[in-house]
Amino acid sequence: MSKPLLATLKGERQPKPPIWLMRQAGRYLPEYRALRAEKGGFLALATDPIAAAEVTLQPIRRFGFDGAILFSDILMVPWALGQELSFGAGEGPRLTPALVDRALAGLQAAPERLEPVYRTCERVAGALPAETAFLGFAGSPWTVATYMVAGQGSKDQEATRSYAYRDPGAFAAIVEAIVGLTVEYLAGQVAAGVEAVQLFDSWAGSLSPAQFERWVIAPNAAIVERLRARCPDVVIIGFPKGAGGKLPAYAREIGCDAIGLDETVDPVWADAVLPPGMPVQGNLDPLALMAGGEALEDGVDRVLSAFAERPHVFNLGHGIGQHTPIAHVEALVARVRGA
Ligand code: CP3
Repeated sequence: MSKPLLATLKGERQPKPPIWLMRQAGRYLPEYRALRAEKGGFLALATDPIAAAEVTLQPIRRFGFDGAILFSDILMVPWALGQELSFGAGEGPRLTPALVDRALAGLQAAPERLEPVYRTCERVAGALPAETAFLGFAGSPWTVATYMVAGQGSKDQEATRSYAYRDPGAFAAIVEAIVGLTVEYLAGQVAAGVEAVQLFDSWAGSLSPAQFERWVIAPNAAIVERLRARCPDVVIIGFPKGAGGKLPAYAREIGCDAIGLDETVDPVWADAVLPPGMPVQGNLDPLALMAGGEALEDGVDRVLSAFAERPHVFNLGHGIGQHTPIAHVEALVARVRGA
């Protein structure tokens, strides 16, 4: 049976766009919060294949999305490169030692830390409905590097942007290490049953044009090229959040099959400037979903009409907010499917 999400990502427009949501497995779901409390934290959950598979499947059971996204995190790669990772309550993730003051060469790589993720993939692949596609993912090198260098999230990625100018050779070594392990990690996900992968470049929007070429386009292109050599059938979605006017160059140059758009991108503009026929994914404002009602309906209709002629996967422009009412997600799915 063919899967509508995969067909769309390969360039075949469907009568109704398939839908999945970034961060669909997560804290807005009471069943997620219950399991997380039982396991004692995010990392315990993400490294327990039975629990992580269950979290991956929760939104599929509830909403019947066309794609299930692996429950894991982009920071598993820094963890496997040898940094320590923690998710403290009420604060963001922490990586130690931060590379802003320690050399990459001092880290002891631990690729076995990724093994539980592959076990999760095998379980999910064996449990999904026949029509549901299975999406894996990784963070893109620039975005992952911003956490590795600063040791935590930051508002404008200043420490990492400065580091990349100050010591481009050392920064290139960090990026190359991320590229290498990311290819292994994604190939491992595919070998364990994943059918499409998304490259999350959440902080692509903070770079000047020349730095964008060097730290967003080039490393993503390297991942795409090396991954395709290993896994010729995998479908690749690039998501350069905040790229704005640099989106067409990204879409032309990295070699991905489809492109994810954040909510700041005007869908009418995107349809006009992106390569004809290239599948797009997006891009309802997550806050319109949280608000519901007219904001939701109007937002959905604008996105649908802008992409009426193109292969389109409906999604948000970024992850679903923690306080999003379940009823709004149900209303979204019904509207996109025309019920
Ligand atoms: O449902 C899904 O989309 C699959 C799982 C997924 C998670 N993180 C689970 C998660 C995915 C695809 C991610 C990607 C991710 N992680 C990104 C890129 C996308 C984006 O949102 O920009 C980034 C930058 C991260 C790093 C990260 N992980 C941060 C900053 C945080 C803490 C803040 C936050 O948003 O919760 C996490 C933790 C995290 N990753 C949670 C989940 C469900 C919350 C953990 C919890 O408290 O239960």
